[in-house]
Amino acid sequence: MFDFLHIHKVRRLPELFWQTDLHSHVCPGIDDGSPNAERSVQLVAGMHELGFRRMIVTPHVTDEVFPNTPEIIAESYTRLVESCRQAGVEMKFNYSAEYRIDELLFHFLRTGQVRPLPGGYLLVENSWMQEPANLDAFLFELRSNYGYMPVLAHPERYQYYQRHRERYRLLREQGIMFQINLLSLAGHYDKACKNTAEWLLENKMVEFIGSDMHRPSHLESIRNYLMSKDYRRLEAVAPLILNDTLVQDT
Ligand SMILES: [Fe+2]
Repeated sequence: MFDFLHIHKVRRLPELFWQTDLHSHVCPGIDDGSPNAERSVQLVAGMHELGFRRMIVTPHVTDEVFPNTPEIIAESYTRLVESCRQAGVEMKFNYSAEYRIDELLFHFLRTGQVRPLPGGYLLVENSWMQEPANLDAFLFELRSNYGYMPVLAHPERYQYYQRHRERYRLLREQGIMFQINLLSLAGHYDKACKNTAEWLLENKMVEFIGSDMHRPSHLESIRNYLMSKDYRRLEAVAPLILNDTLVQDT
């Protein structure tokens, strides 16, 4: 009986407008996402069930809390891929990272240790407390000195921007791309995140939409969102979303 209900529920999920996810914390044991390989497999299987076929995974890299080196990330990524393979969970993988704009990122940039998203995009996040000092100069340097295209992770979630939406336009004029979270559109965080994410979409300021998957409750929120009328409204802007252009399947 349970199985019947389960299958019924899966069948009712709509097709995704893109099948590549570019932001998640499913590498085991190295950030505030999946704590172990078993949970990683559960989360990836859940993403597959929602319709995703490729995940570009992005562990946190922060100076204070998650100072993940390229070696630490590579080791955890290998465990992720191997665990999913052994469990028979189908998913294509790549890896990059979500870099907090801080001293560690500056160090990794200077020493050639950053790993961008495919295509030379670099997923960066601001501090939650305030905009990083000299952000504009840093973004310029990221492009001109290092040749990376900055993608700001979940701009809709920074409270100091929500109250000053004109700042979004200024950042975009400097060439920064935006990646909003499906969880924001799903209303998982709060009303302000949802409203801001929708406003950014309406104003055509979004290139990428990520899951920012950390835990099973996120799967549930995204599932509910996919089943909602709100999700169908995304169809109009879906052609502008570049997720599936990051990696070309051969
Ligand atoms: Fe994240």
